[in-house]
Amino acid sequence: MQDTSLDQAIVDHETYGALDRQHILFSTLRKEDPVHWTEPPGFRPFWTISKHQDVIEIERQNEKFINAPRTKLLSIDFETKVRDAMAGRPMLVRAINQMDNPDHAKYKKITHAWFQPREVRHLEDRIAVIARTSVDQMLEKGTECDFYKDVAGWYPLRVIMLILGIPDEHGPRLLDITRAYFGGGDAEVQRGNDLIDATFAYVNFFKEVARERRRNPTDDLASIIATAEVDGEPIGEFETSSYYVALASAGHDTISATLSGGLLALIENPGEMRKLKQNPDLIPAAVEEMVRWVSPVKHFFRTATETYTLRGKTIKQGDHLLLAYPSANRDEDAFESPFAFVADRTPNRHVGFGFGIHACLGLYLAKVEMIAFMRELLSRVDGIELAGEPAWTETSFVGGLKRLPIRFSRLH
Ligand code: HEM
Repeated sequence: MQDTSLDQAIVDHETYGALDRQHILFSTLRKEDPVHWTEPPGFRPFWTISKHQDVIEIERQNEKFINAPRTKLLSIDFETKVRDAMAGRPMLVRAINQMDNPDHAKYKKITHAWFQPREVRHLEDRIAVIARTSVDQMLEKGTECDFYKDVAGWYPLRVIMLILGIPDEHGPRLLDITRAYFGGGDAEVQRGNDLIDATFAYVNFFKEVARERRRNPTDDLASIIATAEVDGEPIGEFETSSYYVALASAGHDTISATLSGGLLALIENPGEMRKLKQNPDLIPAAVEEMVRWVSPVKHFFRTATETYTLRGKTIKQGDHLLLAYPSANRDEDAFESPFAFVADRTPNRHVGFGFGIHACLGLYLAKVEMIAFMRELLSRVDGIELAGEPAWTETSFVGGLKRLPIRFSRLH
């Protein structure tokens, strides 16, 4: 007989707001039922995949396991609301993470070059300035702040606004939309907005950006998307705004959550903090460990296109699979002491950025951003300690800390 309380816990946003509960749940699954048939009441059933090796095996075979049409966990009621709001379409946006080949390759090609190290390197100086300004603003607060709300929530937003060429005055509006978009079930974060409202707000915001760039194209990323063609035709309005939504949303709370969760890990492991302060060259490795540790993307889905056997379980054609990245990144068979935060962990083959053709498009930018910030923070701020209880966002999709009160002193 199926244990529905366990299945319920996998889909409950609250599970992810209580970090210990999340890790106990997935440690049990990895040990007892790593390919777990999950039938939570109110959701279409799926397989929960919790082992590192299995996540890679599935992601590697992108013809056998496709992204569309089910990309993330939504209740049946919510899926119905989406279809109603979208005139029958099963998704609110259609960006590259909702696409399979041949469309995936064609649409990824539009921005792929822009996200390569050679291009991102041109932005390093400007990103370093944003990191410096963010730490300046933190220090202006005195000796205490909520690191998530006052610093980490804003920093990646400013970088996205830089790459999409969005004027500063739109910052607060974009921050609100993103919080509502990734609020999961967390009333404190969503503040009355739901995912559908938030997506429409995003789409409307970016429609204006696209119109403006078509009139006056520049060399920024927003113009590349607004003027893009696929198969010799301009891309549609829906795909254009979806592309912006994907970049603005994917590049925001993932980074805020990783920086906040990474800082908390350093506070809780003063020896690791010391290592980084003494040897800043370890910061790039520490950033990888932060992504493994926090795994801000809790899952993505795949759908099987043919029958497939995994660890003796028969996955049928049309079955859905939830890839549990935070679980894969704590897998005892893939990492030595996975529950220890080791700033200079090597090797560190985490799947926090995914794997295969859908692996994070912005991963190089994300690393540059996080390294720049950590360099700035650790060289200018000292004695960082907790000044209150941290709290995590209740979301089964993307997020991490929503509150991180800290006390600190200024180095120079
Ligand atoms: C710490 C920061 C980040 C983390 C942990 C992260 C993680 C992920 C993960 C797990 C996926 C799905 C991979 C898969 O299906 O195999 C993904 C996809 C994606 N990410 Fe990121 N991401 C981060 C930052 C960014 C940034 C800064 C951008 C761009 C501004 C970005 C853009 C994207 C896009 C466009 C996709 C879809 C790729 C595709 O389907 O081909 N991400 N990311």
